[in-house]
Amino acid sequence: MLNFEFYNPTRIIFGKGMIAKLDEQLSPQARVLVLYGGASAERSGTLNEVRAALGSRTFREFGGIEANPTYETLMKAVAMVREEKLDFLLAVGGGSVMDGTKFVAAALPFEGEPWDILTSKGEAAKKALPLGTVVTLPATGSEMNCLSVISRQSTGDKLLFSNPLVYPRFSVLDPMRTMSLPMKQVINGVVDSFVHVMEQYMTHPVDGMAQDRFSEGLLSSLLEIGPRIIAAPEDYDLRSNLMWVATLALNGLIGAGVPHDWTTHMIGHEITAKYHIDHARTLAIVFPALLKVCREAKRAKLLQYAERVWGLTEGSEDERIDAVIRKTEGFFEGLGVPTRLSAYDIGPDGITDILKLLEAHDMTALGEHGEVTLEVSRRILETAA
Ligand code: NZQ
Ligand code: ZN
Repeated sequence: MLNFEFYNPTRIIFGKGMIAKLDEQLSPQARVLVLYGGASAERSGTLNEVRAALGSRTFREFGGIEANPTYETLMKAVAMVREEKLDFLLAVGGGSVMDGTKFVAAALPFEGEPWDILTSKGEAAKKALPLGTVVTLPATGSEMNCLSVISRQSTGDKLLFSNPLVYPRFSVLDPMRTMSLPMKQVINGVVDSFVHVMEQYMTHPVDGMAQDRFSEGLLSSLLEIGPRIIAAPEDYDLRSNLMWVATLALNGLIGAGVPHDWTTHMIGHEITAKYHIDHARTLAIVFPALLKVCREAKRAKLLQYAERVWGLTEGSEDERIDAVIRKTEGFFEGLGVPTRLSAYDIGPDGITDILKLLEAHDMTALGEHGEVTLEVSRRILETAA
């Protein structure tokens, strides 16, 4: 196992009706900014539940955070926090609102140009306002991690930062608040979580016994949840399982002490930046192609995944690897999520554009061994054509 430090200070408050518990988490004197996205939080009644829980506290609201939150919009929230002298940020939404809120938290006390928080990958942030979240879309794990992905309209960049200062103090996970999601977003959550687990698992073995089996449990759960949740969208237990699996997939636990390969996400972010395809959908394009191109480096883990998650034990090693890659692709396709760039009309010119963005952002040595050069990324994208 590799050396590691594990730290996660986020309190999880899980279950039906738990938004009322906000009252216990916030001081009566807190001056709160409630941040949300478009119309969904109001329409679904989640905002009203939050308002009721805040009671007589002073609070303001900032709506309009986009899917793939932008620096331009978030800087308006920073100005509002400053003018109104607010001291606690409460995100009500999915990954975009939670990530956006983390950026506001770090940008407010930042001396200098806050975009430097992104270009320094988070290192430049020295202080942050406290924040909490009320999750409405299980997918990103943002509710229990210190990552944030922000886009900049003026340049077309989509960059990630991480800093322990922006761990949420608490996150409320009420599966009922996900019932209003369009099925497309629910499935995005299944795919995003699946790939998060994979990026901390599908590398090479380091004998992380608990991490591997924990990851395999999460993958098996997602394989089961995906088709069942399409068939039974109102099933509370399935919603609960998806919500908790999505959180566990990216809260640091399964990734401690094992190698990571975030190639799929790094290429996926560029595809979203350029073509505005939903985050999870970009991952379904890249991940199967990555497995095909990097199958030798990932050979041992592919065989382990084939046997333990899919029960594939027959045939030669190469046959089992072929079969498990086909099955993984089939899982995404079976959920109605395409695995090819052509499904989005992205051709050879598009591949060149995506590679240019990777180069501009120094994404030229990705993967667990740093061997995913631009040339390898090109092969991955061509395989996904
Ligand atoms: O804007 P509204 O009207 O709220 O609609 C949203 C949005 O259009 C809607 N929605 C959310 N909850 C709903 C709902 N609609 C009905 N009922 C509800 N309960 O869903 C749409 C998508 O929301 P968004 O927050 O954008 O989705 P997601 O949670 O998938 O977040 C994606 C963002 O997170 C980043 C991605 O890059 C992307 O910017 N990521 C963040 C990570 C992290 N912080 O750890 C890791 C991820 O890999 C990812 O990169
Ligand atoms: Zn993701």
